[in-house]
Amino acid sequence: MSAYDIQHHIYDVVVVGAGGAGLRATLGMAEQGLKTACVTKVFPTRSHTVAAQGGIAASLSNMGPDHWQWHMYDTVKGSDWLGDTDAMEYLAREAPKAVYELEHYGVPFSRTEKGKIYQRPFGGHTTEFGEGPPVQRTCAAADRTGHAILHTLYGQSLKHDAQFFVEYFATDLIMAEDGTCQGVLAWKLDDGTLHAFSAKMVVLATGGYGRAYFSATSAHTCTGDGNGMIARQGLPLQDMEFVQFHPTGIYGSGCLITEGARGEGGYLTNSEGERFMERYAPTYKDLASRDVVSRCMTIEIREGRGVGPNKDHIYLHLNHLPPEVLAERLPGITESAEIFAGVDLTKEPIPVLPTVHYNMGGIPTNYWGEVLNPTEDNPDAIAPGLMAVGEAGCASVHGANRLGSNSLIDLVVFGRAAAIKAGTVVDPTEANPELNQASLDAAIARFDRFRHADGNVSTADLRDEMQKTMQSDAAVFRTDKTLAEGVVKMMNVAEKMDDIKVTDRSMVWNSDLMETLELDNLMPNAMATIVGAEARKESRGAHASEDHPNRDDENWRKHSLAYVDGPQVTLRYRPVHLDPLTTSDEGGIDLKKIAPKARVY
Ligand code: FUM
Repeated sequence: MSAYDIQHHIYDVVVVGAGGAGLRATLGMAEQGLKTACVTKVFPTRSHTVAAQGGIAASLSNMGPDHWQWHMYDTVKGSDWLGDTDAMEYLAREAPKAVYELEHYGVPFSRTEKGKIYQRPFGGHTTEFGEGPPVQRTCAAADRTGHAILHTLYGQSLKHDAQFFVEYFATDLIMAEDGTCQGVLAWKLDDGTLHAFSAKMVVLATGGYGRAYFSATSAHTCTGDGNGMIARQGLPLQDMEFVQFHPTGIYGSGCLITEGARGEGGYLTNSEGERFMERYAPTYKDLASRDVVSRCMTIEIREGRGVGPNKDHIYLHLNHLPPEVLAERLPGITESAEIFAGVDLTKEPIPVLPTVHYNMGGIPTNYWGEVLNPTEDNPDAIAPGLMAVGEAGCASVHGANRLGSNSLIDLVVFGRAAAIKAGTVVDPTEANPELNQASLDAAIARFDRFRHADGNVSTADLRDEMQKTMQSDAAVFRTDKTLAEGVVKMMNVAEKMDDIKVTDRSMVWNSDLMETLELDNLMPNAMATIVGAEARKESRGAHASEDHPNRDDENWRKHSLAYVDGPQVTLRYRPVHLDPLTTSDEGGIDLKKIAPKARVY
């Protein structure tokens, strides 16, 4: 008998997380009449999607010719040939439909003079299979696109009677003995009660784990909670070594300055006033893919051409653009530059630095969002009752590097896909099976253990140690030496979770306990990242190894799977999906077009 009085809830579907993917899944489930709960640790419109600025990619052709096949090609190349071909086709094909749905739900997109959705250029998005000029593919609501999408999806979900459990922190999955997911345990932060949610399908939409690093554009809530829950069930995390650095975080605060700034004509300079991207990426210059731009900026700084008193950052210029363009297209970053850098961007450049922004890796899924539990015989075997979407999931459409504005489209395309699939596998007339008491008890026991943890290490100190280790040893450029040292350091850090001290034992608004549970989620993410990076002896996308500077398709065109148990990580691998959904005869892409080649911009 537990010391806690557990409140029970029964649903067809429980979605954990209320960012863009979580809300799109919630809405899609509720629209079909599935009894749907959305459990979220923050108020839905405060989820991190609200911070997404520049836009959402879809080949609408509103500003010039475009095709889903061009979008797919750019995504394949952006992924450095690690993405799954079927998932990338699904993304590019479904993107226009998903954006028009958003428009009809009420997203207030910016407009062209003819009243069509406004689209801007973004890095790595091109025409003619990378042979033509940049394309305007990124649909924007000024520079507050995520904000607009989130508010609209929340309103629509309420309209369809989805039930929201706000400021409920999901702590663990509840699993049947045969490995089927049956629900989640959640802690209601404002009154301290514990809640067991039973569901026929649990959808993890818990976002990324940017806060494993010291400087990130991600909100402080981005603590990889779903990934942590998955790791604790002995399920793998995929491709975690690929961590995206956004070229333009504001120097010091890390606050995001959208790539849309360069899309609207902004450019980077070094201490010599040189537009250095022209040297590295002669065709697409400042609009090369973001891993490329981040590396070039880092090289400029390392070679002594950084700006500022310590020559440790780069300038982003927008001061040549007409003030009315800034006011209409980039009002949000105009404010951010003033608040976080003290810069009037109509007059001065913004000091910027590559900053952790996105996790390409996450919970492995197929393109329906179903979580994979690969076996020797079947690398695509499914973990029943479980889905993952958004940054938490790894479908994998971003492979080793995500293109800007492919994140928002990933959220809505795969949130929607998960709902479509759930509509075929969840039977609303069936009774929910009884929860596995042993699994529920284990989740309660873990919660109680941390609540009463009385070790010697404070959560804040241990988090700081983890973040600084990741920042220095799993950075933009990596070497065998820094990674090997980083693995040892991170193992020591992770071991200290057993010696953690929580000082507040209360149940109501206990931020000390909450941060400790979040740290316990961040830890397996950090371990999987650094161990996966140390093992991968090549350079691909965001994983740039100075000792292995080339991509090695023969040995490394494969997904890594990390099974994390405390400080121990076991790595396995699974093949990349090379087959598209449709052949060129069926109107699909010509496979010769997307065959691996050198990735130059
Ligand atoms: O730069 C940006 O607006 C970010 C977009 C993205 O990460 O997709």
